[in-house]
Amino acid sequence: MVANNDRVWIFDTTLRDGDQALSASLSQAEKVQVAHAIARLNVDVMEVGFPVSSPGDFAAVSQIAREVKGPVICGLARAVAKDIEACGEALKDAENRRIHIFIATSPIHLQNKLKMSLSKANDMAVAAIKLASRYTDDIEFSCEDAARTPYEDLNWIIERVIDAGATTINIPDTVGYTTPMEYAKLVRNLMDNVPNIDKARISVHGHNDLGLAVANSIAAVAEGARQIECTINGIGERAGNCAMEEVAMILATRKDLFNLHTQLNCKEIYRTSRLVSQVCNMPIQANKAIVGQNAFAHSSGIHQDGMLKASNTYEIMSPDSIGKHKTELNLTSRSGRHVIKNRLETLGYGEDEYDLENIYAAFVKLADQKGQVQDYDLEALLHFSTLDEQTGHKYQVDFVNIHSNSSSIASATVALLIDGEQVIESATGNGAVDAAFHAIHKITDKDIKITEYHLDAKGSGADALGEVNVVAEYNSRKFHGAGLATDIVESSVRAFVHVLNLCETARKIEDIKQENLGGI
Ligand code: KIV
Ligand code: ZN
Repeated sequence: MVANNDRVWIFDTTLRDGDQALSASLSQAEKVQVAHAIARLNVDVMEVGFPVSSPGDFAAVSQIAREVKGPVICGLARAVAKDIEACGEALKDAENRRIHIFIATSPIHLQNKLKMSLSKANDMAVAAIKLASRYTDDIEFSCEDAARTPYEDLNWIIERVIDAGATTINIPDTVGYTTPMEYAKLVRNLMDNVPNIDKARISVHGHNDLGLAVANSIAAVAEGARQIECTINGIGERAGNCAMEEVAMILATRKDLFNLHTQLNCKEIYRTSRLVSQVCNMPIQANKAIVGQNAFAHSSGIHQDGMLKASNTYEIMSPDSIGKHKTELNLTSRSGRHVIKNRLETLGYGEDEYDLENIYAAFVKLADQKGQVQDYDLEALLHFSTLDEQTGHKYQVDFVNIHSNSSSIASATVALLIDGEQVIESATGNGAVDAAFHAIHKITDKDIKITEYHLDAKGSGADALGEVNVVAEYNSRKFHGAGLATDIVESSVRAFVHVLNLCETARKIEDIKQENLGGI
């Protein structure tokens, strides 16, 4: 169908395969925020969840289907009726929808996991596709663990699922086992031996267990596959999935070699990558290709000299091409609203994405504390103001007071506003953060357990903003809270308070869902 054209479809699965691997699943508001960012990248398809898996996933997929325009919105389903029905229902308001059905085809999975024959898997797949076609004619079928499935089995089932109505055939390397040459050969085999393959688009889905997900996907499209499944920053199960920013920039930078293109708006790559890293609590290594902090940094004197003479001596693509801009303005407390608005515009943020008054107030406060405000500060303020809007304000930080020195026990007094009413508690701990957390526990009396704590500097100097990310367990669920302030105890308290607000929102959403979800 498409092997002779030069356009490669980008199928984003950040909110499904990516989300699956997070220590704390994203809230519905965070999923919607990420979905809007991914849509701005102009991906072809975005897989945004597995609707049958939980009421939370169902609600997030439904909201994204209603709100996010542009890409095809896709949901995942096993080859069973209740999954397809949940998918069809959750996607019903999408402009364009796809149902993605999977069943394992490799002997290892069939025998050990499913305990069924290939023929039974085929019967289930065909029945599922027929059911899905009541909801949409855009149906993707995945042979889970395809890379470890014998060719003849794969070809046999693929011919049948195309006859049943599948329009995209995905051959996942579920366990990250294959290599570029082998994956390319698998694509060639389908093109040569599945008689009706011209009625479907061949898709690849690589995992990175051997560090080959991107190389495998590129080898597969070079051979004729025309859809790559990938995630922002390569997040996903275990070592992750194929990284979207890498495949996109390989195809853009080496057009001379592959003569293939995507319809991605690559200028959105950088900020989407930062947003996903932040929201998902998955830091990006400094030397990560394309989006790492050092990806465009030139350290050696010889390289710097070459760059000054001509940037292409040491740069194969420009930071600008992924939307990474250099700061040229000094932002201080004397900078007015229009300067901030202008800077945010240069960084790629439209007016509809923030509340200028809120951002400006936070900016002035920070500028008074720090003197100069950098782009990363501004982006951090923007992100944190969005978090506040998403999680509501039942709990707010009023003030934090600590007493801490190297020879005695630390103590902290924390004042929170709960629905506007001030509540104050003091406690001690093995350090200021520990003491402040004990004080919050006393205030809320909730059984919240902090299981992860990370502290990061946003910026380089001692005056950098401190960003704290925590993962907390409450009622058998995990929540990711983040806090930002120039003082690290205050950021820690803010991160804990973010968790309190998330627990509160989750409780409310669960109540609503119990009322609405009876039938699914
Ligand atoms: O890795 C995999 O096999 C998957 C399928 C559900 C497509 O994620
Ligand atoms: Zn996968």
